[in-house]
Amino acid sequence: MALIRFGVSIEKDLLDKFDRFIGGKKYTNRSEAFRDLIRQELIQKQWEGKDEVAGAITLIYNHHKRELVNKLMDIQHDFGRLIISAQHIHLDHNNCLEIIAVKGSPLQAQKLADNLKSIKGVKHGTLSMSTAGTGI
Ligand code: NI
Repeated sequence: MALIRFGVSIEKDLLDKFDRFIGGKKYTNRSEAFRDLIRQELIQKQWEGKDEVAGAITLIYNHHKRELVNKLMDIQHDFGRLIISAQHIHLDHNNCLEIIAVKGSPLQAQKLADNLKSIKGVKHGTLSMSTAGTGI
């Protein structure tokens, strides 16, 4: 893909803030940081649309609560086509980490994440909203 150079006018104050921001993030130059910010905005927009997206749901829960484990499983089966992979990690005697990779409708992915997170006994749940790789 061709790289285009273009000039951007920006207030010094804002640029200083940007430089401090990218310094903290370990970016080696402004261009890559700028590209990432644009992609982040485009991906956010994708999640508001209807096109296919990809992401990951992570859950932390206590597997001794059998009813909870069954509920998590039932919901995942209901969204079977959306889930492309799931990994279960035993963190310690009580706690489990589950990582569920999803690809498909953004609305469905958010619904699945909400349904799983809202189950009583789930200690923490996140949805990492990423892209299926197209359109950015
Ligand atoms: Ni486990």
